[in-house]
Parts: sequence; structure tokens; C-alpha cells
Amino acid sequence: MSLDQDLFIIIMNFLLETLQVLFMSLVYSLEALIRLFIPTRKKNVSGEIVLLTGAGSGIGRLMALEFARLGARLVLWDINEDGNKETALMIKETHGARAYTYTCDCSDREEVYRIANQVKREVGDITILINNAGIVTGKKFLESPDSLVEKSMEVNSLAHFWTYKAFLPAMIAANHGHLVSIASSAGLIGVNGLADYCASKFAAVGFAESMALELLAMGCDGVKTTIVCPFFINTGMFDGANTKWPRIMPILEPEYACRKIVDAVRKDQVYLYIPRSIYIAIAMKNLLPTKMGVLLGEYLGAFNFMAKFKGHGNKSK
Ligand SMILES: NC(=O)c1ccc[n+]([C@@H]2O[C@H](COP(=O)([O-])OP(=O)(O)OC[C@H]3O[C@@H](n4cnc5c(N)ncnc54)[C@H](O)[C@@H]3O)[C@@H](O)[C@H]2O)c1
Ligand SMILES: *[C@@H]1O[C@H](CO)[C@@H](O)[C@H](O)[C@H]1NC(C)=O
Repeated sequence: MSLDQDLFIIIMNFLLETLQVLFMSLVYSLEALIRLFIPTRKKNVSGEIVLLTGAGSGIGRLMALEFARLGARLVLWDINEDGNKETALMIKETHGARAYTYTCDCSDREEVYRIANQVKREVGDITILINNAGIVTGKKFLESPDSLVEKSMEVNSLAHFWTYKAFLPAMIAANHGHLVSIASSAGLIGVNGLADYCASKFAAVGFAESMALELLAMGCDGVKTTIVCPFFINTGMFDGANTKWPRIMPILEPEYACRKIVDAVRKDQVYLYIPRSIYIAIAMKNLLPTKMGVLLGEYLGAFNFMAKFKGHGNKSK
């Protein structure tokens, strides 16, 4: 073949590929536009086996109740045995369904693997995995005990590695499943006073996003991913944290957050940021000059989010 012919083929391929991409971009944009007006169908989760870590309180408990209402079978993990049993009891009382409870410290790799095997034997393969357990130190980094910094990484991100290792192979084999990461808006943007928490949540987001791409590249299109990044939720975990402009950045009600998350899962939505203003904050962070970003952050009260933080720990019970 002559050089001219080679060049011709290269140029034709380039044009063809570019045209294809332009055309498909148009199709996807139209699809997204239509979705704004026609609500996406929600998938049926009845009969799915849902595993929730951190199911003993907060939004973990609420999501467990919601999935039970929708007919899913629930496997509840928590380090707090009493809270976990209480969630199971609530499921029994409100929906008459049995939930399987396991006391599991998901920061302990061997324990995750051991209890995962027990779950597979006693209940079956997990089809919806919700990594929800989380902790927060809530101190300035240099004042945070090393043990708590390490624990935050172990619970908020490393645990996700081990649960994927335990439950993803069966999902891939069946080309059916859903991986849900309850991360945080602190996994998208740094926050003064939350350095170790942000690091752990950035890791959770990066991991879930990369794994979604790894699955896509494998052609495993039946295993979905949802990455959830909420602002503060009124569950007690962030008690004392404050927002300066509650109209733009409201502290979310747990019931609302739970409803949005379950809906996003049922719609196979990949990213869920709540409230919506988080989408704007992220765009601004990436687009604006750095100093202007800091200025706006100050204006929005971002430097004082954690000033009066109490959390679960220092509550007077
Ligand atoms: N509350 C918020 O403002 C907020 C905001 C954004 C994201 N989140 C995230 O949402 C998730 C749920 O938080 P929540 O507000 O319901 O808090 P929560 O404290 O009520 O619930 C967390 C649960 O995780 C459990 N847990 C902690 N360590 C564990 C471990 N090692 N192994 C197993 N279970 C463990 C706790 O016992 C508790 O039941 C967390 O990942 C949190 O980081 C919370
Ligand atoms: C959902 O799925 C279950 C089990 O697969 C089935 O029995 C039920 O009829 C389905 N419900 C709807 C509304 O499609």
C-alpha cells in the first residue's frame, strides 16, 4: 500500500470516529433532556438481597426499612449489636419481614470475609451492597489521635474494598447487582476541620467510580453503581455542625436523604449529590479562580461548619 492510501485510511477513520462520537453525544444529550420531563422508571427490588453496613442507626436503618417495604430481603451489619437488632425488630413490626442481623466490625478485613461467607451460606448471594457505615473524628487534624485517623480510613474506605472483594464476584457471575457507596459531599470538596474524614470519603468516591468503570470495561453492564454525596444529615453523627445559609445548604432530614438515595438506586442513577446546590459548589470549585473559591466558601460559611461540632460522642445522654 502506498503512503497516500495509508494516510487516506487514517483520516477517514478519524472522521468516522469523530462523527460517531458527535452523533452519540447528541443522542445522550437528548436522552438527558427528555429525562428531565419524563421520570425514569424505578426498578423492582422485590426479591433482591440487600446488605447494609451501619444498619443499626441513622440513614442505614431508614434505608433498611425502605428496602424492606419494597419487598427486598435485608442483611443488616453493624458493630452495634443492639441498634442492629432494633432495626430488624422495626422491620418485623412494620413489614412483617425477617431481616438477618450480623454483628460485624467492617473495619476488620478478616471479620468481613468471615461474616460474608456466613451470609452466603445462611441467606444467599448479595445483589445490592450498600456501604453505609461511617465514623467521623471531627477535630483539627493535628489534634486527631492517630488511632481515630486510621479508623476513619478503615471504616469509611478500606471496608469498601473488602465488601467488594466478598460480594462482587457473585454479582459479576450473574451480571446482576448494585453497588451503593454512601460517601459524602466531603468526598468531593475539602472541608476545614474534617481532613481525615474528607480523605476517607474522597477515597470512597474514587474507589466506587473506578470500579464502575472497571465493570463497564469488562462489559459487565448488569452491575450498577450509585455514589451518594450528601451534605450534613440530621442523624446525630454531625450534631453541632452548622450551616450559615440553611436555604441554600440545608441540613438534610434523614427521611428525605433516605428517600432520595433509594430512588437513585431504583433509577440506576450513578451520582447523587444532595442538596442540588452541591452540584453548583463542585462546578464552582473547578472553574473559578482559587482565591475566589475560598472567598465564596467563606461567604457560604464553609470555614465554620465544624466550629461547634459535637457528634455522637459528646452528647449528654
Ligand atoms: N450525618 C451526616 O451528616 C452525613 C453526611 C454525609 C454522609 N454521611 C454518611 O452517611 C453514612 C451513615 O451515617 P449516619 O448519619 O446514618 O450516621 P450514624 O452514626 O447514625 O450511623 C452509622 C452507623 O455505622 C455503624 N458503624 C460505625 N463503625 C462501624 C464499623 N466499624 N463496623 C460496622 N458498623 C459501624 C454505627 O454503629 C452506626 O450504626 C456514613 O457513612 C456517613 O459518613 C453522613
Ligand atoms: C417485582 O418482582 C417480584 C419478584 O421477582 C414479582 O413477584 C413482582 O410481581 C414484581 N412487581 C412488579 C410491580 O413488577
